[in-house]
Amino acid sequence: MARILVTGGTGYIGSHTVVCLMEQGYDVVIVDNLSNSNVEVLDGIEKIVGRRPDFENIDCLDFTNMDRLFDRYTDIEAIIHFAASKAVGESVEKPLLYYRNNIVSLVNLLELMSKHSVHHIVFSSSCTVYGQPDAQHLPVDETAPIQKALSPYGNTKQINEEIIQDTCHANEHIHATILRYFNPIGAHPSAEIGELPNGVPNNLLPFVTQTAAGLREKLRVFGDDYNTPDGSCIRDYIYVLDLAKAHVKAVERMLSGKAEEQVEIFNLGTGRGLSVLEILRTFIKVSGVNVPYEIVGRREGDIEQVWAKPDRANKVLGWKADTPVEDVLLSAWKWEKHLRGIK
Ligand code: UD1
Repeated sequence: MARILVTGGTGYIGSHTVVCLMEQGYDVVIVDNLSNSNVEVLDGIEKIVGRRPDFENIDCLDFTNMDRLFDRYTDIEAIIHFAASKAVGESVEKPLLYYRNNIVSLVNLLELMSKHSVHHIVFSSSCTVYGQPDAQHLPVDETAPIQKALSPYGNTKQINEEIIQDTCHANEHIHATILRYFNPIGAHPSAEIGELPNGVPNNLLPFVTQTAAGLREKLRVFGDDYNTPDGSCIRDYIYVLDLAKAHVKAVERMLSGKAEEQVEIFNLGTGRGLSVLEILRTFIKVSGVNVPYEIVGRREGDIEQVWAKPDRANKVLGWKADTPVEDVLLSAWKWEKHLRGIK
């Protein structure tokens, strides 16, 4: 079976994808500098799969050591590139950190792919490239216009998509799949791996579960005066394990030579939009735990509403995100309880 290089493989989406790849029989080598993850994630993966992935503590910015890695693992057939900085607010404060980390990593990988004859790459992009789509483009499909990024983080995703397009145009041997994620949530049902936010979570679900666990006093709902049915923002929350499975499908499609274009782009979402208040109420219902909250002002830079039209991924990849949101929220709660030692 082929070996897959997974950069950022000890991270949130990366670790779930490594589990899915290994369960399908792939050999995996993870490259991660552990800047936003924990080496114990490898134990979690091993507990779930029964095998331990190879792991190399290397920064993707370090061209020399990445080059040596490709010399050592001559059987790498595809790369899934998750490793990136992802905090929107921090990217506004430290734009050059984001441009360096996110862009140079990809440039290094693409150069090394040519050098070592690795021909397939899956890239983690984001629905952030669509900004706020017009009403006529909701739900949003892959043909919706790309809008000017609202943050350096978002801009790195757009620039990286362009770097991939230009590289593939110049090198017919390189094939790429760009996956535009909507909002990943939840954790592996075993609660052996999940999201490990650093400090105060920026994202909704970790904040909800930490509040339920008593770590935070209350959730702040950012705005109830949006032009949506209940006034709070709408997103397409996708189960992280469903998302992970799409990566396996994307790798299979490229390795089997079925990709019809040199660069294929897929939206990965459920096709269903849920509001912040719907998520909160559903979480309280399924967990049986009260989550205190207050409505506060809008968060700067938030999009009012966006959800996916995932038809292309459904048809072409033969993949669907179909885990009920109740189960997903319970998996997030089980993970939080596991982390905090709550019974
Ligand atoms: C955010 C990023 C996006 C990135 C994604 C990665 C912004 C503006 N966007 O998406 O670029 O790709 O994370 O996961 O930061 N909310 C609250 N209270 C909270 C936290 C969130 O009400 O304490 C609301 C937000 O206003 C939003 C929704 O929950 O309506 C989801 O927020 P979040 O989880 O941060 O995701 P995005 O903003 O969609």
